Amino acid sequence: MNLVVFLYVNILLIFLVLLGLVFGFNITTFVVIFGVMAIITVILFIYIFYFIYSLIKENKSFVPYVPTPMKVVYEMIKMAGVKEGDNVYDMGCGDGRLVTEASYIPNTKCIGVEWKADVVLTAKIRNFFKKSKAIVKQGDMYKENISDADVLFTYLLPHAMDKLEDKILNECKDSVVIVSHGFTFKNLKLQEERQIGKITIRRYSK
Ligand SMILES: C[S@@+](CC[C@H](N)C(=O)[O-])C[C@H]1O[C@@H](n2cnc3c(N)ncnc32)[C@H](O)[C@@H]1O
Repeated sequence: MNLVVFLYVNILLIFLVLLGLVFGFNITTFVVIFGVMAIITVILFIYIFYFIYSLIKENKSFVPYVPTPMKVVYEMIKMAGVKEGDNVYDMGCGDGRLVTEASYIPNTKCIGVEWKADVVLTAKIRNFFKKSKAIVKQGDMYKENISDADVLFTYLLPHAMDKLEDKILNECKDSVVIVSHGFTFKNLKLQEERQIGKITIRRYSK
C-alpha cells in the first residue's frame, strides 16, 4: 500500500462520481463515495506532509528507498537462519518488509530503523494490515543500539555500509549474523553468497 495506490483509488472514485451523475446513483451511494474520497484525501495530505517533513529533517548522505523484492526477502530470512527468540534488525528498513516477515517466526523481536518519515508511515500501515508485531522506528540507524542483535539485514550503498560496518564491529555480539542485499562489507567475514536472478545476497559474521 503506498501513495500511488491511494492516488489511483481517488481517481477511480472520481470516475465513479461521473458515472453516478450519468446513471443517476442514489444519494446514499454519493455520500459513501465522497466519504471514502475524503478519507483518502486526508491520508494523501498526511503522506505529503510527512514527505516534506522528512526532506527538511534529512541532511544525511543519500541512500534511496528501493525495496527488496519479496522473493529475495524470503531468501534473506532463510539465509540468516532466523530462529525463535532472535533479535532481528533491518538497518534502513524501508517499508519494513524484512522485519515484517521475520516477525512471524515465534518470539522474535524484530526492529526496523528508517529515517524517511513517509516511508516509516508506509511501513506502519503495512505492518498494521499484515498483523505483524515488528517495530518500525523513525530515526538514524547509526544511533540505534544494536548490541543485542542476533541477525542484521542491510540493503544500502557502499558509503553507508562502511559506516555501518564500523558500528557492527564495535557494538554487536560475536555471534551476530549479517545478511546483506547488494553491496559488500570490507572487513566482516563472508560466509555464504547466493545469486537470485540478478541480485546477490551475502551472509557475514563478525
Ligand atoms: C535500499 S533501501 C532498503 C529498504 C529495505 N531494507 C529493503 O531491503 O527493502 C535503503 C533504506 O535505508 C534508509 N536509510 C539510509 N540511511 C539511513 C540511516 N542512516 N538511518 C535510517 N535509515 C536509513 C533509506 O532511507 C532507505 O529507505
